[in-house]
Amino acid sequence: MAQYIIQGGRRLEGEHWVQGAKNSALPILAAAAATKSQCVIHRCPALKDVDAALRILRWLGCGVRREGGTVTVDAAGLSHSRIPEVLMREMRSSIIFMGPLLSALGHAELSAPGGCEIGLRPINLHLEAMRALGAEIVDEGGRLSCSAAKGLHGGRYILSFPSVGATENMMIAAARARGTTTLTNAAREPEIVDLANFLNRCGANVRGAGEGVITIEGVESLHGAEHAVIPDRIAAVTMLSAAAITRGEILLRGAAPGHMDAVLSVLEQGGCRIRRAPDGEMHLRACARLRHFPTVRTMPYPGFPTDAQAAIMALACVAEGASMITETIFENRYNHVGELRRMGASIRVEDRVAVVEGVACLHGAGVEARDLRAGTALVVAGLAAEGRTRVRGVCHMERGCERFEEALAALGADINRMEEDSDGKEANEDKGEKK
Ligand code: EPZ
Repeated sequence: MAQYIIQGGRRLEGEHWVQGAKNSALPILAAAAATKSQCVIHRCPALKDVDAALRILRWLGCGVRREGGTVTVDAAGLSHSRIPEVLMREMRSSIIFMGPLLSALGHAELSAPGGCEIGLRPINLHLEAMRALGAEIVDEGGRLSCSAAKGLHGGRYILSFPSVGATENMMIAAARARGTTTLTNAAREPEIVDLANFLNRCGANVRGAGEGVITIEGVESLHGAEHAVIPDRIAAVTMLSAAAITRGEILLRGAAPGHMDAVLSVLEQGGCRIRRAPDGEMHLRACARLRHFPTVRTMPYPGFPTDAQAAIMALACVAEGASMITETIFENRYNHVGELRRMGASIRVEDRVAVVEGVACLHGAGVEARDLRAGTALVVAGLAAEGRTRVRGVCHMERGCERFEEALAALGADINRMEEDSDGKEANEDKGEKK
């Protein structure tokens, strides 16, 4: 298992180009399959989750070519509608292929992705949404057989929760359904708007994305399109947090500050000075010592994003005063708490509420990433910790952070990626030895 070795205490400073959004690229790649034509997707981040999506596209019969940040999907060859379990399990959000396959082929066979480290991740809303469009879905021990022999028809569906994935599946499936579809209580994330823009470029008729009610007029067919994915707002938050916790400063290029209001407001509450420029540049200058974050509560967009909760908790660990963080979206999204405590953090968790008493300084330790965002938070904490921190589980971070250690090292961090010896030779580093 690969690990990061971080020597903390270095102030981060410099410029960073924000990667394309993982959570926008994934649904757009799946939607490209539904066009059964050639689509060119720019700013597609080099991530394990994206690679997994490309493997699924190839398995389904699509041609896939990557040249740098540009991925070309030739979906004319789309012919398979069955995704094997092994491919479904590689990426939790592979359920997003259900809508495209039903739309393009009238049939889909795939597995329920199953839970993950942050929660059970049910898909009931996805299934109800597909059924509202006329799909018949049989769940046999987690293997889903979906069919729409007469094609999908428009429908009306009210989401009991503004699920991002269920909204995306519905948008893609309804794009070519006969008639009008109305999706109420839809997710409003920027990634939803990006998907709608891509679908409309492909000839779809999607209106209201980013608001609570999305209306989709089904069209006969979709054609290929060229599209650049929006910036990754969560990756941007990770880099801002790295600068903030090391009392540094960072200039982000190619960002979308307008997608990050809730997080930027919390960082400013903590004492960071943030300048936004219209062309997607944003500059953060940290303060001498972060102030506490009185109340951070994760909510669906435009509320504070759950994916940024771990990073803000890392900052809260060394802020002056006590911060209260409430995770309302996922039931098990505090995997980073125990690991931060190993670094000297003072955190109390009761149900979904974490109270973080800021300490003057964390100390290095051997810690383990159990999910993508917990892992990046541990790296952020290690950047400011005294001594050496070993973060195991780099595989989680490679799912969502493009060239993470290179990006941090370019800003002055002392971070190296290493394969762990089988006999765990770095055991002595668990004590956060000082060099
Ligand atoms: C997307 O996951 C993102 N993933 C997640 O990012 C993100 O945390 C999440 O949206 C919330 O913003 C991608 O876009 C690939 P949801 P998704 O459906 O679509 C419940 C990351 O780190 N729910 O909005 O799976 C669910 O249990 C990842 O990049 C149902 O009950 O999220 C959860 O409590 C992690 N039934 C809540 O809704 C359903 O059918 C939010 O889930 C679907 C969801």
